[in-house]
Amino acid sequence: MKKLSLLLLLSATLISCNNNSMSTNTNDIDRKVDSLLSLMTLEEKVGQMNQYNGFWNVTGPVPEEGDAAKKYDDLRNGRVGSMLNVRGVEEVRKVQQIAVEESRLGIPLIIGFDVIHGYETMSPIPLAEAASWNMDLIKRSAEVAAREAAASGINWTFAPMVDISRDARWGRVMEGAGEDPYLGSLVAAARVKGFQGEDLSSPLTIAACAKHFAAYGFSESGKDYNTVDVGTATLYNTVFPPFKAAKEAGVRTFMNAFNELNGIPATGNAFLQREVLKGEWEFDGFVVSDWGSVNEMIIHGFARDGRDAALKAATAGSDMDMESYHYVNHLAKLVEDGEVEESLIDDAVRRILRVKFELGLFEDPYKYCDAQREKDIIGSEEHHQAVLEMAKHSIVLLKNEGGLLPLKKEGQSLAIIGPLADDKTSPLGSWRIAAEDGTAVSVLEGMTTYEGNTITHRQGVKLTEGSPSFTMETKINTTDRTGIPEAVAAARGKDVVIMVLGEHGFQSGEGRSRTALDLPGLQQELLEAVYEVNKNIVLVLMNGRPLAINWADEHVPAIVEAWHLGSESGNAIAQVLYGDHNPNGKLPMTFPRDVGQVPLYYNHKNTGRPVIPAPDLVFWSHYIDQTNQPLYPFGHGLSYTDFTYEELTVSKDTLKGDEVLNVSLKLTNTGEVTGTETAQLYLRDMVASRTRPVKELKKFTQVTLAPGESQTLTFEIKEEDLAFYTGNNTWQAESGDFTLFAGGSSNTVLEATFYFEK
Ligand code: BGC
Repeated sequence: MKKLSLLLLLSATLISCNNNSMSTNTNDIDRKVDSLLSLMTLEEKVGQMNQYNGFWNVTGPVPEEGDAAKKYDDLRNGRVGSMLNVRGVEEVRKVQQIAVEESRLGIPLIIGFDVIHGYETMSPIPLAEAASWNMDLIKRSAEVAAREAAASGINWTFAPMVDISRDARWGRVMEGAGEDPYLGSLVAAARVKGFQGEDLSSPLTIAACAKHFAAYGFSESGKDYNTVDVGTATLYNTVFPPFKAAKEAGVRTFMNAFNELNGIPATGNAFLQREVLKGEWEFDGFVVSDWGSVNEMIIHGFARDGRDAALKAATAGSDMDMESYHYVNHLAKLVEDGEVEESLIDDAVRRILRVKFELGLFEDPYKYCDAQREKDIIGSEEHHQAVLEMAKHSIVLLKNEGGLLPLKKEGQSLAIIGPLADDKTSPLGSWRIAAEDGTAVSVLEGMTTYEGNTITHRQGVKLTEGSPSFTMETKINTTDRTGIPEAVAAARGKDVVIMVLGEHGFQSGEGRSRTALDLPGLQQELLEAVYEVNKNIVLVLMNGRPLAINWADEHVPAIVEAWHLGSESGNAIAQVLYGDHNPNGKLPMTFPRDVGQVPLYYNHKNTGRPVIPAPDLVFWSHYIDQTNQPLYPFGHGLSYTDFTYEELTVSKDTLKGDEVLNVSLKLTNTGEVTGTETAQLYLRDMVASRTRPVKELKKFTQVTLAPGESQTLTFEIKEEDLAFYTGNNTWQAESGDFTLFAGGSSNTVLEATFYFEK
């Protein structure tokens, strides 16, 4: 208790922190941080930069000295600033108590956890949420996740992952917002605001973490942890914007990355962390390494040993070492030997303490440890409603021919077939560490809540041999076909067959890169066998990445992209299939026809040979065995109604300096039911000092229209919307011609032009 009183004394001299008057509080917090820092020994300072795992779920090897006894000793000796993967009020209280009541200064721990898309009540995977293009729902989903995590003792999430990726082979695309920097920036900001709320010191909000800084999503060949080599222009134009948006939304921490970037591992990369993040962007929170990534710099061939790795990572601006143990083992000695300036350590510790003060941990280190709150909040009905709403809006109707959807509510015979139809675990998706297996509503359960039709269910084939695991490779079933005949028999003569196929919940995510983008295992065979006897198929896809489903697109009349939608999955899918929710999701990532087209993205460059000439000409940018076109473009998504786009007009021909250009179009619901459309506005800078993409998303808006209703939509374009990283290596707009494109996907239908004069 002696230690606690030291800090209470410190706090008492300074007024409490809340967000009501930000600047006073920033100064107050800085003063508190400085007072505390002045009391700390070098060892204690380094301790704040050390983060230990709590023996929960690991995504990498634990260093040999990672035994519990040592960790507890280190907690007592002020050699630990943070722990991850400790959860539940009781467990968190245990470690917090040691840090606060048994260490000399009693500095509370910040407790981190991968709350990626929900804590126990699971939201859709982030890629699915991005398909909603609905920032209010995305923010609300993060808020729900934060409330549950905070109620369980956690005060820091390693989310949002804001890595742009154009490569569906990379398993971690499920964790991000897709391929577009503009959409990705909006999602990044919405998620940060959802997690952190208006007041970081509230016991129901948690600190967010923008990761992985930077360019992890550009791993060569989509293979996880692989080399990244991208130029500065791509960094500034494509990779950085969502990170910058997260920073501007107030994100309190960043995580660096496993990958090397142009030869320098991100963890030891001073350009990224010191020059850009803490320099240009003036980020005053702290940077945590990725799991063991300080150590991995040795394996990369960038650091000689642990001491060298600690030196390089700390010098480059990595403030906290997650599970490498090199800071705690080497940093103090490096300072004593004059190789690292103590001021550099002070800077890192200041950043970490600042966030701890902002969270209010010094006022009450147990503020997240209320057992009653934990009971009341986690899994509440209100949270289930929020994730259900998010899930419905995340669904994308890819194809709907012949009016198969929506289903009639009565008098139809349905066969529900596929290995994922009754799966109550896969819909939870990857990164669902606090959700119990088997807690999602399956498609079968969701469909059964509608009682007017008859349902026959068959699995057809099993997707895996045994249960999928988070840490171990899962074997896909490629041999057991015994269930196919009875699935075919069940499908015969039914009014509609709903086939639920795709990837199991751990088939995407970290370490889950694929070289094929097809339906895994025997699912394609099952689909074709069923099609032989019944062509009225609605294919419901569950997956964590774009899939190349050409055969299905050619043959199956209706295709619904249902991702991994979280706890309420089956209810959301049933409501969409029955038309109680008219789907309005739009793809945040291009779906290729063939894995050979990847990386495939809408905002590509024109090249010097882009035009599709006569079919027998060879020398242009193309493949000889596949079209350049995607299967489904970025932004694509249908509705049960139809929308027409007309009359794209600009308010003036020339936009000057800081004027505003109003861009209008008329949107009409020409179908028979009310529907919501996401109208998209793209732009091309025709000639620039550095070549620009053929199209870039600049604005979008969502409107709900009744049948026959029209609305004029207006978008504002300003100089800042035209800015990019120019040939002079500066962020600015250049004078010249611009073309605008509008439509319901990146395959736009309207065009207009204007001139920009600086
Ligand atoms: C992942 C991070 C994650 C960390 C802690 C790493 O393997 O790359 O995104 O936050 O583990 O679980």
